[in-house]
Amino acid sequence: MLTHEQIEKSNFWMILLITILVSVGGLVEIVPLFFQKSTTEPVNELVKPYDAVRLAGRDIYIREGCYNCHSQMIRPFRAETERYGHYSVAGEFVYDHPFQWGSKRTGPDLARVGGRYSDQWHRIHLLNPRDVVPESNMPAYYWLDRPLKDGAIGAKMAALRMVGVPYSDQEITDAPKAIEGKTELDALVAYLQGMGTALKQTR
Ligand code: HEC
Repeated sequence: MLTHEQIEKSNFWMILLITILVSVGGLVEIVPLFFQKSTTEPVNELVKPYDAVRLAGRDIYIREGCYNCHSQMIRPFRAETERYGHYSVAGEFVYDHPFQWGSKRTGPDLARVGGRYSDQWHRIHLLNPRDVVPESNMPAYYWLDRPLKDGAIGAKMAALRMVGVPYSDQEITDAPKAIEGKTELDALVAYLQGMGTALKQTR
């Protein structure tokens, strides 16, 4: 039988036992989440897969690195719910691959920004934030008002279907047509306007 002292003085036993301990602890925390309805099923019928335009907008959000300054995760604290609305729940993100929760808030959380401003406000704000919020230090994304080109949109939807997003064949075939004639700005604004609306609390 190994004594405590022998374990602490042996690299081999220390590494092996810590690995086992951390693995068991990790699995106990993570595995149940795969089987809980509250984390695997949409919180209500308003949570839908992103349509082609919103999905393209989400990709622009990722490309431009908006997550470096914006989280999409309202914590269940009074200070947060008073400011942003209902706290975030796992069932709102079942179609988000990968999710954009983020951990950095240079700007406000965006989890419930959908419907807070008009489309026009977002367009002006994205092209030059200072035009609507004079003290803003958010960068101007002035290049976004250009045609949206996403030749892979159908393939992306097909890939998402493989991880459980229920797109129909029709939606996938129609995807290139759905984004035709849109600008990158249109897509990004559509994405922002849908954010968090399934659980929107009117205050
Ligand atoms: C360098 C940090 C930074 C980056 C990067 C950034 N933002 Fe912001 N954002 C801010 C700050 C600061 C504010 C608050 C001032 C304002 O409204 O402009 C803000 C505000 C916003 C708001 C208004 C939120 C509200 O509730 O009033 C939206 C929407 C937004 N940003 C979207 C975006 C999008 C989309 C991107 C990527 C294209 C982006 N931001 C990138 C810093 C950033």
